[in-house]
Parts: sequence; C-alpha cells; structure tokens
Amino acid sequence: MSGLFITLEGPEGAGKSTNRDYLAKQLQMHGLEVVLTREPGGTPLAERIRELLLAPCDEGMNPDTELLLVFAARAQHLSSVIRPALNRGAIVLCDRFTDATYAYQGGGRGLSEERIATLENFVQSGLHPDFTLIFDLPIEIGLERAAKRGRLDRFEQEQRSFFESVRQTYLARAAASLERYRVLDAAQSLDHVQRQIDRLVPEFLGRTRG
Ligand code: TMP
Repeated sequence: MSGLFITLEGPEGAGKSTNRDYLAKQLQMHGLEVVLTREPGGTPLAERIRELLLAPCDEGMNPDTELLLVFAARAQHLSSVIRPALNRGAIVLCDRFTDATYAYQGGGRGLSEERIATLENFVQSGLHPDFTLIFDLPIEIGLERAAKRGRLDRFEQEQRSFFESVRQTYLARAAASLERYRVLDAAQSLDHVQRQIDRLVPEFLGRTRG
C-alpha cells in the first residue's frame, strides 16, 4: 500500500470532524487525493450498523454484541473504502478507528485488550494507521459541547466515569507509542487547535513523498 492512513480520535465534543475537514484542505492544497471518512460507518452498510450502535436501546446492548458490530462495520469499511483508497495512493482521513474500540469497548465497557486485539488482527490483517491524532480535552467541556448538539446518542448517555476511562485509555495508548500518536489540546480555541494541526502537515507530506 502506498497511501497514508491518518485517524482522528478523542472523546465526545473534541471537534474531530471540523478539524478533519481543516486538515483535508491543507493536504489538498498540495494536490493530494484525500478521502474523508468516519467510523462506525463510511459505507452505506456500515452506516446502517452505525445506526444500530448509536440508537438508544431498551433491551440493553451486550458489550460483546457492541464489539462485534463495531468490527463488522469496520470490515466493510476497510474492504470498500479504506484499502482501495490506500492502494491508489490516497491519504485517508478517518474520524475514529480501532483506537476508539480500545477506548470505548475496552476502557469504557471493560472488555479485555486481548479480546479486542484478536478481532483487530482478524479484521485488519496487519493494517494500522500511520498517524493517529488524539484531540484531548477535559470530559466536562466535551460533554457540554456534545449536549449543545441536541439529542444524546447511546454512548453520549453514559456516565462520567465511562468517559473518564475513555480519555485515560486514549492517553495511555498515545504514551505507549509516541511514533504514531500526536496529542492535541482540543480545549483551546478552534484557531489554536488548527495552528497545532498546521505544525503536523509537513510531517504528513514528508511521509507521502518518502
Ligand atoms: P462519533 O459521534 O464521534 O462519530 O462517534 C460515534 C460513537 O461511536 C462515539 O460515541 C464512539 C463510538 N465508537 C465506539 O464505541 N467504538 C468504536 O470503535 C468507534 C469507531 C466508535
């Protein structure tokens, strides 16, 4: 594969999609093909699985069901969108990927890392992001921003402790692999966050030409 795979992660309300669009513009200015996508979702079928995952559910969703749905959507997304784009040399900017599974199903729901890693190996066959940007912010700020967007989805209705575990899992993963992760301070103004992104662009360009 010759493209570049960049994922954007963070708790709710971190501004990932706005910043993903901003980063895309910076990269497109250099004449590169950029594919913008998201998880769960990114294909019509995977978007239907997303609806199942996000809709509040009276029955209660078993954590293993949730995990399998996340990876089912990912398998479809990888084969229909991500792998073809990387194979033709595009830059894929994906709003959330498997780090979110470690953070939400692992940290949040308490599923073991080993169980997640087993599915990761099965579904991804060794494909991992080249870079992962973590938009970090205190959970109160993120939840306040998410609440302003309207009705809360099944994840957004979780307890504070759930989001604290999500955040700590992201930070622990970033600390364990400095080469791949870049942590950005998403509590700052949009302008300030975008200056942080600007500083990363040359590094990404270097990798596409290397
Ligand atoms: P979004 O609204 O930021 O796009 O994310 C949708 C929700 O899906 C978010 O609350 C996190 C959750 N999620 C998981 O629980 N596991 C995953 O692997 C992914 C990709 C997302």
